Amino acid sequence: MTEELWYKNAVIYSLDVDSFMDSNGDGIGDFDGLMQRLDYLYALGIDTIWLAPFQPTPDKDNGYDVSDYYGVDPRYGSSGDFVAFMHQARKRGMRVIIDLVINHTSDQHRWYQSARSSPDSEYRDWYVWSKDRPSNWDQGMVFPGVQDATWTYDEKAEAYYFHRFYDHQPDLNMDNPKVRAEVRRIVGYWLELGIAGFRVDAVPFMIESKCCNAQQGQLHFEYLTELRKFIQWRSGSAIMLGEANVTPKDTKPYFEGGGGENGIHMMFNFWVNQHLFYALATADLKPLQQALKATRNIPQRAQWAHFLRNHDELDLGRLSEEQRQAVFERFGPEPRMQLYDRGIRRRLAPMLGDRRHIELAYSLMFSLPGTPVLRYGDEIGMGDDLSLAERRAVRTPMQWADEPQGGFSMSPDTLNPVISDGLYGYPIVNAEAQRREPDSLLNWTSRMIRLRRECPEIGNGAWSLIPTGCPEVLAMRYDWQGNTLITVHNFDDRPHEVRLSPGDTGDDRLVDLISDRFHESKSGRYFIPIGTFGYHWFRVGGVNYSARNLIAL
Ligand code: GLC
Ligand code: CA
Repeated sequence: MTEELWYKNAVIYSLDVDSFMDSNGDGIGDFDGLMQRLDYLYALGIDTIWLAPFQPTPDKDNGYDVSDYYGVDPRYGSSGDFVAFMHQARKRGMRVIIDLVINHTSDQHRWYQSARSSPDSEYRDWYVWSKDRPSNWDQGMVFPGVQDATWTYDEKAEAYYFHRFYDHQPDLNMDNPKVRAEVRRIVGYWLELGIAGFRVDAVPFMIESKCCNAQQGQLHFEYLTELRKFIQWRSGSAIMLGEANVTPKDTKPYFEGGGGENGIHMMFNFWVNQHLFYALATADLKPLQQALKATRNIPQRAQWAHFLRNHDELDLGRLSEEQRQAVFERFGPEPRMQLYDRGIRRRLAPMLGDRRHIELAYSLMFSLPGTPVLRYGDEIGMGDDLSLAERRAVRTPMQWADEPQGGFSMSPDTLNPVISDGLYGYPIVNAEAQRREPDSLLNWTSRMIRLRRECPEIGNGAWSLIPTGCPEVLAMRYDWQGNTLITVHNFDDRPHEVRLSPGDTGDDRLVDLISDRFHESKSGRYFIPIGTFGYHWFRVGGVNYSARNLIAL
């Protein structure tokens, strides 16, 4: 049954329409431009695109401040362009998931404008108000430093309103059944247009009771079930992919919802992500191994999404102080690289620097038990622009070619500036040049995606950590439908020889799926040399055996 679940073996690519491809030369990416680049994504091996918010917005938080849930921001095109894009994606067998940002709206949304205008507004209870200033008004900010409060006085409303994020993002009151009914309409609308699911923004905040009584802070996991049931009625295969940066012990109810397996289908594994960066920074693998084990037990139909970087800062808030300092020291030593004392606002390539280290990180991500999510531009090793404020540093336009504006736009003036100088400028880092270069990061990534697709054991199977005799080398075994896969990753900046004891595999040959070499076991043990930041993916059994299995899959 598990192979029915498409999201368990998808390869997801996240992008912002406004930074991907500008078709009409106004300096802002659009749906037409994205459509022209679908073949690029298809050829890369992507089967699922996650679109960051593209609905009408004052754009004070990269579109995470929606002012109309039923439309397309005119800067990106029309609803007609969206439907044309969906058609082209579907023609290529690609799925599209979109952000669902319903913890809050923009303060420009007509619901909020109406709500603040009068206590009698039918939208008043759609938001969260307090006549007096709550005692915790300056606590619980998500963006400390750029945000001073979570309750702000609205002169017009003559009341304080609650906002977990920026003050231009008033929180919706999810305890109001009318709000939940509207959310179902929003979800139903986009499903009708053919999307395959939602990346659900800020889940823990979205399901919490917000106002000032005994209920405050209570998490309503049953809201997730309510939403899931509705989604499944409308589209049986559609999913929710939740953003919830929570500890392993708190994840269960997100997957389970109000009971059974009726919560969120997928969640980003922030816990593993942070410990993975610690492992990359130090080659100390224990915390990563523990993180993997701690997040192992999830319901059968649930799945983790693994990522390296996303559109936000690399959040290290879940690490111990010592671990966090180690990551800062290695990957974000300068204050301008850091954000809110807990994160790093850099892209992957400049953080890691060494191509071998980047490959190690990606090879590992592709092989972690779950579904990989790539960030646009990381497949060509794009850099960041630290002169931009906050998280904008990692949101510069896609670098297509060595042409003005990196081939992103005909306009000399783009919404987000293109990186044009230095090691990561478009003359050096661009997709066109990398297409021609067989060993480029782009072609390497494409080969790895193909490999990931040939190894559905990873998305579907049972896995275990196996001993390597070498503390800096991580080895994992995956079993599914009579196939066994073993991956080995050396986090150390020097080579090693590992002693691999994978346990009973029913065969004594490991075939290297990347280099075509193979190893035979000596009484159940393999002795395998591994280079600096080296990685191997082995299938157990001879070449014919693996080929037969590939076909059988
Ligand atoms: C999520 C998004 C982030 C946004 C915030 C508020 O954390 O990833 O980019 O600023 O929600 O919507
Ligand atoms: Ca445009």
